[in-house]
Amino acid sequence: MKLFVDTANLDELEQCLRRGFPSGVTTNPSILSKEQRRDFRVHINDMIALLQKYRYEIPLSVEVFTTDPKEMLRQAEEFVGYFGHYPHINVKVPIGWDELAVIAELRRRGIRVNCTCCMSYNQAIMAARAGANYVSLFWGRIRDIGYDAGSIVRQVHDTLQTWDSPSEIIVGSIRHIADINEAMQAGADILTVPPKFFPQLCAHPKTDEAVSQFVADFQKWQTPVQVDRRAA
Ligand code: E4P
Repeated sequence: MKLFVDTANLDELEQCLRRGFPSGVTTNPSILSKEQRRDFRVHINDMIALLQKYRYEIPLSVEVFTTDPKEMLRQAEEFVGYFGHYPHINVKVPIGWDELAVIAELRRRGIRVNCTCCMSYNQAIMAARAGANYVSLFWGRIRDIGYDAGSIVRQVHDTLQTWDSPSEIIVGSIRHIADINEAMQAGADILTVPPKFFPQLCAHPKTDEAVSQFVADFQKWQTPVQVDRRAA
């Protein structure tokens, strides 16, 4: 199970990269729009520069920002032109009938694809069949309309296993820590998580209690002791 960072924020990305755990980074047009307004190509290149600074060679997903399939192909090629110096770019293409042709064509051209916005079993299976390297299921949004995201992820996982599919399941749209744990159990290969959740994944009140107790006990024990410099 791998953890991707779902962000375009440079500070948050760097905080995660410094901690060694990310196996990938995902963005989307809305995530990018939360950053200071600038040419998106410069922004993505700054993200790549951070990955290189910390010597990561991990997938970075950049999404097309159009609903026109022809334009998707053009943008995908443009991404390769702009960001091809980082050989781990994945182009995010939303699922759909016309979009499936875009996915298949990009794969024929040797461009890696993350098929995004999948909300159902059928969509994920179609994306995998078309050759998407990643199939992104949106946990929170699936649950928003009352469906059981866990059983969809489990069924997609089981089906992909039966034909030894090379497509990996990314679960995104994470809203709570419990989503992360449940999606892992359901068979996600990858969780893409907003950075605000990562500190919580490392925290536990019993850990804080244990650490404070150890430090306090040690200080109590050592306080009266004068270090004998002759013995040192
Ligand atoms: C995944 O790749 C997407 O960027 C993301 O998780 C979408 O989630 P949202 O429901 O928060 O928009």
